[in-house]
Amino acid sequence: MIRKLATVFSFLAVTVIISGAITADEKKENKYTTKKFMQAVKTGGLHTKIIKGEASEEETKLFVAYVKALPTNKPPKGSADSWKKLTGALAKATKAHLAGKEGSAEALTKAMNCKACHTPHKVYPPKQ
Ligand code: HEC
Repeated sequence: MIRKLATVFSFLAVTVIISGAITADEKKENKYTTKKFMQAVKTGGLHTKIIKGEASEEETKLFVAYVKALPTNKPPKGSADSWKKLTGALAKATKAHLAGKEGSAEALTKAMNCKACHTPHKVYPPKQ
């Protein structure tokens, strides 16, 4: 019980720190672009580490920052409604997973489904 509370509190602390960091950054330039997020997902498997609970504190902060910035990033394609739905679901699943909710790993895996989001929102280069 105490351990669980400690986890919740450290998650809250991380959220507060990150919200502060994002507000400061917004005044400059958005560091957390969709492209950078995608590169971290592809090359570092950032989301996989989060889902498995193997991410470091640093990686967790980074993932949360990307997820939080995502709804405010404009996708190259697709409706604003769909983007809001997909990125909102991802934010919700991330929060639940970091709070240790049951079944949250599956929900986050689903919210991170590459194709489900790329089909409506990513522009594919024409075939060679
Ligand atoms: C919630 C939506 C969403 C999810 C989930 C998602 N992507 Fe993406 N991804 C995008 C969008 C939007 C782009 C286009 C970004 C742009 O061109 O600005 C993109 C682009 C990319 C790119 C190209 C990046 C570049 O340098 O141009 C890669 C690689 C990529 N995604 C990998 C993945 C992988 C792997 C997964 C699944 C594990 C995934 N994405 C899940 C939305 C998503």
